[in-house]
Amino acid sequence: MIQVGVIGLGMMGSTHLDVYAKRDDVNIAAISDINPKRLSGEESARGNIEGQAKGGLALSKAKRYPEGKQLIADADVQLVDICLWTHLHQEYAIAALRAGKHVLLEKPLCRTYAEAKVLAEEAKKAKGLVMCAMCMRFWPGWVWLKRAIDQQTYGKVLAAHFRRVAAHPGGNFYLNGDACGGAILDLHIHDTDFVQFCFGTPQAVFSRGYRKETNQIDHLTTHYLYDGGPMITAEGGWAMSKGFGFQMQYTVNFERATAVFHFDGKDNLRLSEPGKEPRMVELSEGMGYAHEIAYFLDCIKHNRRPDTVTLDQAAESVRIVEAENRSIAEGVPVKL
Ligand SMILES: NC(=O)c1ccc[n+]([C@@H]2O[C@H](COP(=O)([O-])OP(=O)(O)OC[C@H]3O[C@@H](n4cnc5c(N)ncnc54)[C@H](O)[C@@H]3O)[C@@H](O)[C@H]2O)c1
Repeated sequence: MIQVGVIGLGMMGSTHLDVYAKRDDVNIAAISDINPKRLSGEESARGNIEGQAKGGLALSKAKRYPEGKQLIADADVQLVDICLWTHLHQEYAIAALRAGKHVLLEKPLCRTYAEAKVLAEEAKKAKGLVMCAMCMRFWPGWVWLKRAIDQQTYGKVLAAHFRRVAAHPGGNFYLNGDACGGAILDLHIHDTDFVQFCFGTPQAVFSRGYRKETNQIDHLTTHYLYDGGPMITAEGGWAMSKGFGFQMQYTVNFERATAVFHFDGKDNLRLSEPGKEPRMVELSEGMGYAHEIAYFLDCIKHNRRPDTVTLDQAAESVRIVEAENRSIAEGVPVKL
């Protein structure tokens, strides 16, 4: 039984607790939130996508700490699950690693690449294992895509477009660009990270974007430029009108097939191949959150460093996003 402590009982803390609730190999030893209503359970966070943060776990036996560092100091806690605001990620992750804990850290790895590099170096010296929760690398419809690309099941990728757009989630954290980094860092990094996962770091990025809800970029499109390689683009943002909801999609054109994915509470993946009727691809159940947590717990049980996503790769995604920000500011492609 792995003893888990969750810091930050907001949308993501609640989502992770939903996952732990369904597992019999973990015990929620402690929880922490500076908001007394969230800590007591009087107020619970809501998810921004269907099926997320349902609040299914009875927490009556968990120790409650009004500050995350107190949870980190608890000797009973083996795995610290950090679901804090992005500008706090580096400080709390380093504190937990120095306390000898395993650490699961929500994405983006850090608010800046400079912070991310320091954390990635610290992790190399740490006794505990650490993973950044880049959930798309574990999302069934995206795991399918990664495998199809690696194995060239339908030939090479000619073009891929990713799209992740939403109405602004609201709340002080998401309105504070200095804390959350705007949609470019908070939301769009999912696609930048997945592009890096599948195709490596691009030679350059060329982005256009604008501010709407924060002092950072809230809606953008990026061309990830690969010399002689596929045409890769992504659109991301939370500048849609109130009531729009959330959409995540991809369209990938292989030499011998076209795959179109969209999420509406469950994964939908339609594959068109020449000479065949288009078909829906069967995928494993569940969202990326459950699969990433299952994977990290397995790494802990076998004392194996996570390699589906490394801290260096999670830091690299922050670096690419910073290049996208520069490209928007300067109006030119930015080399990486
Ligand atoms: N993987 C995903 O798909 C995904 C989705 C949404 C958000 N996120 C990331 O998760 C992180 C948290 O986002 P959220 O939407 O859950 O935020 P949130 O505001 O809903 O929750 C954060 C919680 O942390 C608490 N907190 C702040 N400082 C604290 C401290 N020092 N000690 C203890 N508790 C403290 C706050 O009171 C709040 O309840 C962000 O980095 C965000 O980018 C990831």
